[in-house]
Amino acid sequence: MSSQNIYILGIESSCDDTAASVIHNGRILSNVVANQKIHEEFGGVVPELASRAHQQNIVPVVHQALKKANITKDQLKAIAFTRGPGLMGSLLVGTSFAKSLAYGLNIPLIDVNHMQGHILAHFIDEEGFNKPPFPFIAMTISGGHTQIVRVDDYFDMTVIGETIDDAVGEAFDKSGKILGLGYPAGPEIDKRAKLGNPKAFKFTKPKVDGLNFSFSGLKTAILYFIQKETKANPNFVEENLNDICASIQYSIIGILIDKLKLASKQTGIKHIAIGGGVSANSGIRQSLKDGEQKFGWTTYIPKFEFTTDNAAMIAIVGYLKYLESDFAEQNVAASARLKI
Ligand code: KG4
Ligand code: ZN
Repeated sequence: MSSQNIYILGIESSCDDTAASVIHNGRILSNVVANQKIHEEFGGVVPELASRAHQQNIVPVVHQALKKANITKDQLKAIAFTRGPGLMGSLLVGTSFAKSLAYGLNIPLIDVNHMQGHILAHFIDEEGFNKPPFPFIAMTISGGHTQIVRVDDYFDMTVIGETIDDAVGEAFDKSGKILGLGYPAGPEIDKRAKLGNPKAFKFTKPKVDGLNFSFSGLKTAILYFIQKETKANPNFVEENLNDICASIQYSIIGILIDKLKLASKQTGIKHIAIGGGVSANSGIRQSLKDGEQKFGWTTYIPKFEFTTDNAAMIAIVGYLKYLESDFAEQNVAASARLKI
């Protein structure tokens, strides 16, 4: 890539994490995330509180990202920001901030699609991590989205499958809620699943044609199962929590892998990448690796810090767009339902 000194600031504020990152050419110099603990007590993200917390966090988070990168804002060549999809009130904070900063510094503004960010995070220069060759299949699995995307080039992406109801992260979080776990429950289910028997309980797989997903049926099946079992034994959840978590995780991973197998078969593509918060899950990481032996796949699993929402993935897209002089105007608007 380029031999110039291209420093780009990435800003991410689509949901409940305020994040900023500085990228120098393709390499990340800083990746700062401020999590909003406030939502835990409500069992989910409260949009109004998220927006307010972004307003409090954005200036210190950007300052910290610049400081960690050891540069001043005058060295920046462009400001990249998440335009969508996400929560409108949250997106507006990052969008307005990025616009003002780019205007003040008189440098280009670059709009980034959050879901493209999760996919293109694989192109961050990082030792020990290979970049997928085109075309590859990307499965984005997060709290808000579940998609299978055919990626023919950096900005030539086609969604070939997606959820018709809940996102896979919601399947983790809502199942966790039924079990009385905190929000978000994904990481805790993952932790407990390692200690449990994945075949202890069986949940039937949803029947959805083609490459689309459905997770709401699984959530209902888990709810009814828990209600029935706790009627017979009020301590059922407590006594079997690790096995229940392992079984839920096993079911969810089975659904994801089945669809990836189908996508690979239909497209003939064997380079498979994952992205998004749920790709932090140790079970899905292992199953993907197993796919290399079983199905002849080459798999791409992001570095842990680039899985959940972060600004490094926004900065890398900013860098790739910068190289193509693909800039946004000052009148660009945040878009809650922005498509790939
Ligand atoms: O990408 P992300 O940080 O935010 C969205 O764009 O949604 O994803 C958050 C989701 C949550 O549902 C969370 O429970 C899930 O990712 N998650 C996990 C794990 N870590 C985060 N799910 C399963 N296992 C994990 N280790
Ligand atoms: Zn995300």
